[in-house]
Amino acid sequence: MHVTRSSNSPELWWRDAVVYEVYVRSFADSDGDGEGDLAGIRSKLPYLRDLGVDALWLTPFYRSPLADGGYDVADYRDVDPRFGTLSDLDALVAATHAHGMRLLVDIVPNHTSDQHPWFQEALAGIHRDRYLFRKEPNDWRSNFGGSAWTQLPDGEWYLHLYAPEQPDLNWRNPQVREEFEDILRFWLDRGVDGFRIDVAAGLFKDPEYGNIGTLRPHEDGSPIYGRPEVHGVYRDWRRILDSYDGDRMAIGEVWTESPADFARFLRPDELHQAFTFALQLAPWSAPEFRSVVDKVLAAVRPTGSVPTWVLSSHDVVRHRTRYGSAARAHAALLFMLALPGSAYLYQGEELGLPEVLDLPEAALQDPIFARTGGLSRGRDGCRVPLPWSGSAPPYGFTAPGAEPWLPMPSDWGPLTAEAQTDDPVSTLSFYQRALRLRRALRDGLPESLEWLESPADALFFRRGPLLCALNCGSEPVRLPPHQRVLLGSTGQPGRELPGGAAVWLA
Ligand code: NOJ
Repeated sequence: MHVTRSSNSPELWWRDAVVYEVYVRSFADSDGDGEGDLAGIRSKLPYLRDLGVDALWLTPFYRSPLADGGYDVADYRDVDPRFGTLSDLDALVAATHAHGMRLLVDIVPNHTSDQHPWFQEALAGIHRDRYLFRKEPNDWRSNFGGSAWTQLPDGEWYLHLYAPEQPDLNWRNPQVREEFEDILRFWLDRGVDGFRIDVAAGLFKDPEYGNIGTLRPHEDGSPIYGRPEVHGVYRDWRRILDSYDGDRMAIGEVWTESPADFARFLRPDELHQAFTFALQLAPWSAPEFRSVVDKVLAAVRPTGSVPTWVLSSHDVVRHRTRYGSAARAHAALLFMLALPGSAYLYQGEELGLPEVLDLPEAALQDPIFARTGGLSRGRDGCRVPLPWSGSAPPYGFTAPGAEPWLPMPSDWGPLTAEAQTDDPVSTLSFYQRALRLRRALRDGLPESLEWLESPADALFFRRGPLLCALNCGSEPVRLPPHQRVLLGSTGQPGRELPGGAAVWLA
């Protein structure tokens, strides 16, 4: 019999971990093909250790035609040759652990690639019941634009909540369940510390396939997301994770509007964590930030799990660009890192990278661009490869003279990791200081926070001995009483905190 390990023990590593998202294709290229790879990541582990993160989350590196950047998996048990080999993955797991960090991998259970052998069989009319085939489509829309249904030449329609190259699996088929349990074990046996679960709330659809009409896809009662059957899957997965040593964990990409729905994923025998995207979606505004934090804390508190915070990811405009300045981006980081729970960083934010807004249309690869007829330019602007060194593209990302898979701006010379290392006023040094300090403080911090009175455009809160102040306005505000300044987002503030700045106080 399996015993569920309690998620409430404060010493569990993930409860306050800082996790760094590696978008594998854009991180570091070791073989000069213009795409990042696993060996490239391994070569940068000292950089990540010095940055001060606790764990890495790798986006999908499995065999894939990359119709959606790898979220279209053709073989869940192999590494795409562009990204390396299984031995590279084994070496990366070992080296990550040797550097004192954990490694999470992405699991994509909602859909496969259309090149997956199962879908190839389905196209030939064999075992279509592993996917969602219907005689008639309904009004459901793909998240990437257009209908969620594509018709085959024989007249049947299949469902794809994303691109047509990503057919949705039928989770009511026990074979699908068994297959994924086996895939989890495959990677756990290789030593990964856990999973980020893609589209975690979407696996089951209402078997009636009613039109969605005016309902929103993630609202309660939607026929598409958050169906109750999904929880049985995560209970089974939890038992698998708990049967391994070493505090393996899973975090779900859970989009749902209702806090009660959200909390169900975090029951003690289900997922360890679920992403909350509210902070990422909020505009630069003190009252908005405060309301987001209150809502997330209220939703998570009854579960015994911890909140998770995200400012940037491979799916949204980089927060430096969203907030309009590097100063605000630094302030937002201090605010986020002072909150209880764990924080997920996205590669390149530690270099202060902006969104690349002027990629030529011919270079765009995100299916959203084509599926919306160019109405949305898609997510490529935050997926531009990282600049490591030198003063011209490809800035050490790939071999000199090689073409990175997305063009890199010509003015990123000052943003390279090399240029920022040992520069005390660089964004990289600021991230290192903030992460070091968070690590030093964290054992003494309660998992809750207390708001203090503040001017309308500012937020002050306390967690035990740590006080965080954020000024979203443009006028300076007077800081609350404190003993000393631990870290400021713009130099050392005096008694006043300038607009667009944050500070940690003792
Ligand atoms: C969420 C992933 O983060 C995103 O990049 C992907 O396109 C969709 N899920 C579909 O897999």
